[in-house]
Amino acid sequence: MTLFGESHGKVVGTIVEGCPAGLPLGQEDIQRELDRRKPGHQLASGRRETDRVSLFDGTFNGKTTGGPLVVVIGNEDVDSSWYLKNQYVPRPGHSDYTAFEKYHGFNDFRGGGFFSGRMTAGMVMAGAVGKKLLSLHGIRITAHMLQIGCVEVEGKKNSQDPARLAEFASQSPVSCADLEKSGLMVAEIERAISAGDSLGGKIECVVTGLPVGVGEPLFDSTESVIAHAMLSIPAVKAIEFGSGFSLCGMKGSEANDAFQVEDGRITTKPNNSGGVLGGITNGMPLVFRVAVKPTPSIGMPQKSVDLRTREDAELRIEGRHDPCIAVRAVPVVEAMAAVCIADLMIIAQKIPRTLGD
Ligand SMILES: Cc1cc2nc3c(=O)[nH]c(=O)nc-3n(C[C@H](O)[C@H](O)[C@H](O)COP(=O)(O)O)c2cc1C
Repeated sequence: MTLFGESHGKVVGTIVEGCPAGLPLGQEDIQRELDRRKPGHQLASGRRETDRVSLFDGTFNGKTTGGPLVVVIGNEDVDSSWYLKNQYVPRPGHSDYTAFEKYHGFNDFRGGGFFSGRMTAGMVMAGAVGKKLLSLHGIRITAHMLQIGCVEVEGKKNSQDPARLAEFASQSPVSCADLEKSGLMVAEIERAISAGDSLGGKIECVVTGLPVGVGEPLFDSTESVIAHAMLSIPAVKAIEFGSGFSLCGMKGSEANDAFQVEDGRITTKPNNSGGVLGGITNGMPLVFRVAVKPTPSIGMPQKSVDLRTREDAELRIEGRHDPCIAVRAVPVVEAMAAVCIADLMIIAQKIPRTLGD
């Protein structure tokens, strides 16, 4: 996939290549996913976009042609005034400083330009194609919120039922399947908003229905491909698979997932490996978690510098920013997982290049 556009430019969009021919696909499939990413409630940024999807190329008579899919949305609710006034004072935690240095100031700094969270709309649109393809093969991807600030969902790792997770997460404004914790997370965000501050979050993604044998050895392992994609989402700073970092404190006898036969299928108990062994899926749910840092743009005054004079400067950020990016990153995590798994399924020849009638 390719992403194009910039936060305050005319459009943002994606080009998806390699989608098999014959997949039933309409604008509504993409719109449905994109609507989940919208800043529609009081916990999100004030930028109000209609985000109407235009699917320009790559389908004919309601099915994919096998050619590149071109999907675009317009940027409508754009206010660049604050960025124009502060173009030489980089926001701490954002890409302003590194982009200015790398591109010698030619970068579009308005709203973060190409580094804006708005680029993730393109990720979600590409992911909608992947999700549609995978749904035909019984693969389901569910991301949900595990932690916002100090509020964390406790419980047994790697064993959730995705249908239940999705059902409960859809009732929560922060996509948290534990509805009691969801209320506490909302309160935590509201406190951060009043303080002019922001919060980080941890998102878990569970993929079920994967066959055994997806993922290539070493560099194109399932973990490598997914980690690459997840760390490409702005503000994602860490990823762990299965029991991840807690494996460091386990003995082999605890960490090894025992094999067993269940209804004629080989499964493991527990699923510390998160569904991957040797980079190859083992038929258990693929489980991973990502850490999303707090939104860099906050309401409090912050220490920065003036890039022209090379002197200290104080920065007061105005404009519209999400108090907790993680909330809007949930569908983005699902989308990028869908793109990766669709690719890996095609490479492993589990999905043909042309679908049947
Ligand atoms: C869905 C989403 C929305 C975002 N919205 C904002 C925002 O409103 N304000 C902001 O400062 N950063 C926002 N970001 C984060 C920045 O884009 C990101 O922190 C920045 O590009 C620097 O990259 P890094 O954090 O990966 O180092 C958002 C990220 C995502 C995924």
